[in-house]
Amino acid sequence: MADTLTITDNRTGRTYELPVQDGAIRAIDLRQITTGADDFGLMTYDPAFTNTASCRSAITRIDGDRGILEYRGYPIEQVAEHGTYLETAFLLLSGRLPTPVELSEWNRAVAVRAVPHESAKRLMESFRHDAHPMSMLVAGVAALSTLDPDARQVRDAAARRRQALRLIGSVPTLASWAFRHVTGQAYVYPDQDLSFAGNVLAMIFSVPGARFQPHPVLERALDVLFVLHADHEQNCSTSTMRGIGSSEADACSAMAGAIAALYGPLHGGANEQVVRMLQEIGSVRNVPAFIREVKAGEGRKLMGFGHRVYKSYDPRARIVKRTADMVFEVTGRDPLLDVALELERIALEDDYFVSRRLYPNVDFYSGLIYRAMGFPVQMFPVLFAIPRTSGWLAQWEEMAGDPDQKIARPRQIYTGAARRDYVPIDRR
Ligand code: SDX
Repeated sequence: MADTLTITDNRTGRTYELPVQDGAIRAIDLRQITTGADDFGLMTYDPAFTNTASCRSAITRIDGDRGILEYRGYPIEQVAEHGTYLETAFLLLSGRLPTPVELSEWNRAVAVRAVPHESAKRLMESFRHDAHPMSMLVAGVAALSTLDPDARQVRDAAARRRQALRLIGSVPTLASWAFRHVTGQAYVYPDQDLSFAGNVLAMIFSVPGARFQPHPVLERALDVLFVLHADHEQNCSTSTMRGIGSSEADACSAMAGAIAALYGPLHGGANEQVVRMLQEIGSVRNVPAFIREVKAGEGRKLMGFGHRVYKSYDPRARIVKRTADMVFEVTGRDPLLDVALELERIALEDDYFVSRRLYPNVDFYSGLIYRAMGFPVQMFPVLFAIPRTSGWLAQWEEMAGDPDQKIARPRQIYTGAARRDYVPIDRR
C-alpha cells in the first residue's frame, strides 16, 4: 500500500493523491483542490490547533494515551530521578547528555550570567507593591532585550547560544527580585557557591545578615520540579515563543510573550489556581459539593485536571506527588493535601471526569509543594517559568535551524460583511 491519501472532491468529481509522511499530510497540498479558477483552494479549519502539527521537533515526545514523556528520548522518570535541572537544560538545547567536564563548564557559564544589568533592577523597583510577579517577569525579560545588542543577532548561532545562557542564568534572579520587591525586602544576588535551585531558594528566602543554607531535601525537590517543568513540546507558551521568534524578534522579546502565555490560568497559571481552589473548598467534607458544582457544567473547572494531550495520568503528576511526600517529611503535612487527594479519588471514579479522560496534570500537586516550601501562591507560575526558560530556548533554537520554518502567518475563514461602499457621516 502506498503512503498516500486519495481524496475525491464530490463538488467536482476530481480525485487527488496526497503524500502521507510521519502520519500527516502537508496542509499546503490541499490548496490544489479547487472548484474553479477563482477558488483559492482547500484549507483546513483548526481553531486552537487541536489537530495541526506546526513543526517537526526532536526535543520532547509525549504519548498522551500512554502517559509517556521523554526529553530527547530519555524517559522523564529517569531524568527526574538521576539528573539535575541544568543538566536537563543542556540536554534539551544540545540533544545529548553532557560529559562531566561539559556539565561543569555549562553550570559555570550559567552561573556567571545570573546577574542582570542594574537597570533591570530599577525596572523591578518601579512596580507597585501589589504587582503580580509574573507580570513583572514579563516586563523584566522584555527589558533584557534593550540591554544587549547581541540579542538581535538571531541569525548567528553563537549569539543565540550566548542569549540562551544569559536567559537561563538571569531569569531566576529577575523572578526573585520581583518577589523581593512585592514583599518589601532587599534584593538578594545569586551566590556562585550554591546550586541553581539552591540559589532560587536563597534569593527568595534569605534574611539579610544571616547566611542562607538551603535544606538539601527542599533544594533537591525544587530541582526535580524544575526538571519536570523544563519542556513539554508545542504547548501554548512554546507555540508563542516560536511564533514571535519566527519574525526574527530576539529571544528576550519572544520569551516575554511566552511568559505572558504561560501566565494564563488554563496554562502555567493553573498551579496558583489549584491552591486557591483547594483553599476555597477548605475541607474534605466540602469536596462533594464542589464536584457537583463542576459537573453542573456552568464553567467551573477542577483546576489541575485535564490536558489537551494527556488522556491518561500526566507522568509528571506522579513524580510531583512522590516529591510532595519527601517535602512534607521536612515541612510537615499540608492539610490541603487531604482535600486534593479526595478530589482526585472522586474524580478518578466519577464518570463525568472519566468519560472526558480528565486526570491530574503537572499543576495539581506542584502548588502544594511550593506552599510547603514557603512560596506565596502568586510565585507559583513564576516557578513554572524559571525552568521552562530552557525548553522555550531549545524550541526557539530548533526553529532557527529548521529550513521548513518561516514567519508564522495562519489563514482565516472570513465571516464578515460583503464588500460595501463607505457612507459619508452626513448621510448616516
Ligand atoms: C499545563 O499543553 C501543555 O503541554 C501544557 C502543560 C505544559 O507543561 O506546558 O502541560 C502545562 O498548562 C497543564 C494544564 C493546566 N491547566 C489546568 O489545570 C486548567 C484546568 N484544565 C482545563 O482548563 C483543560 O483541561 C485544559 C485547558 C488543560 C485542556 O483543555 P482542552 O484540551 O481544550 O479540553 P476542553 O476544554 O475542550 O475540555 C473537554 C471537556 C469539556 O467538557 P464538554 O464541553 O465536553 O462537556 O472536558 C471538560 C470541558 O468542560 N473539562 C473540564 C476540565 N478540563 C476539561 N471540566 C472540569 N474541569 C476541568 N479541569
